[in-house]
Amino acid sequence: MTALLHPFADAAKPEAEYINVVRAEGTTLWDDSGKQYFDAMSSLWYCQVGHGRTEIIDAVHRQMTGFSNYHTFDPFTHGPAVEVAERVVALSSLSGGRVYLACSGSEAVDTALKTIRLIHQRRATGGPARQIIVRRERGYHGVNFGGTTAQGIEANREGWGDLIPHFVEIPGDDLEAAARLFAEKGDQIAGLITEPIQGAGGVHPPQDGYLEGLRRMCDDHGALLCFDEVISGFGRTGEWFASQTYGVTPDIMTFAKGVTSGYLPLSGMVVSAEIAAELEGHGSMYRHGHTYSGHAASCAAALANIDIIEREDLVGHTKKLHGWFESGLSALAADGIIDSYRGVGAVWAAEFDRDATDIKAAMLDKGVVTRSIYNAIALCPPLITTEAEVGHVLDVMASCT
Ligand SMILES: Cc1ncc(COP(=O)(O)O)c(C=O)c1O
Repeated sequence: MTALLHPFADAAKPEAEYINVVRAEGTTLWDDSGKQYFDAMSSLWYCQVGHGRTEIIDAVHRQMTGFSNYHTFDPFTHGPAVEVAERVVALSSLSGGRVYLACSGSEAVDTALKTIRLIHQRRATGGPARQIIVRRERGYHGVNFGGTTAQGIEANREGWGDLIPHFVEIPGDDLEAAARLFAEKGDQIAGLITEPIQGAGGVHPPQDGYLEGLRRMCDDHGALLCFDEVISGFGRTGEWFASQTYGVTPDIMTFAKGVTSGYLPLSGMVVSAEIAAELEGHGSMYRHGHTYSGHAASCAAALANIDIIEREDLVGHTKKLHGWFESGLSALAADGIIDSYRGVGAVWAAEFDRDATDIKAAMLDKGVVTRSIYNAIALCPPLITTEAEVGHVLDVMASCT
């Protein structure tokens, strides 16, 4: 045992049983025994451009040579933070919107949840403010108290004592159930948070019309729609954001992970032009801030990372990845090797008729990193992955069932 307490891990697991990563390059990583692995999870769903990009490292070095960071609380600002905000808004569907920057997806989510409540507190003149936040079964929104409460994964909500009041869950895919909730409590609902394609809950793309239905209900009842694009942003679905893939525009969007490909921590919340105008309204102190909001070195990493995604057309390449995964997985399903599959772009799940923990372990043994989620193996490789590498991952999976 060492002093390090690992996240989402058995606290009693000895350090010696962990895989000690010593190097990573492109889609490959190596442990301290020299064993090589294909990174079919982009580390933890985040490394869009692959590992070891000197362009990002150099950009961070240049930024830190000027100043490593200076805070952006009033009265300070700096170019890297402003530029990231401008670039993210321009790439998103929320033109004219504004961006709040933080470090982790969890911080971005709690920022969004607080902002949803804030907007309704300010709107409530003479009546009670709406407070209900609707969450979705299978949703994952990080581990701060807001994100923990907003999760639809029960095991992650348990054991921490009382969570935040006024959160109500809807089933994963049942639009009628959502409609019933809105019919009953629509005038008390402040907003609804969901991942457009659910990730950590098992890689579940939305059923046809589902996100459009939620958008309509929010509009009809005066509630705000928040898409948590922490996994699905920055090319993962074959567009810059999943909201573009599915053609549904939220009022608020969170992002993290792929914005820097994980080279340094950065996350954020984008609000629509309408919400921005409300925040800018009279008496508009935004009493919320993280010490490292808009960290300059992280922003430099983000700008270099976005440059690479654009220059190498990794969003376009992800459309090819979609085709390679779809044909490979459908062949495995036709052969009865997997039960079914689902996904979009470069994020997929293969479903088995049993818990997939052993399959993940066998694949790891053969040098392919995946995640098991109940009966599914999740695949979320870097956006630079080649057709041959997709074939290798699926061959290894087939050999491990
Ligand atoms: C959709 C979603 N939201 C929020 C988070 C939390 O992000 P972080 O772990 O950076 O706090 C995650 C992390 O996987 C996520 O997938």
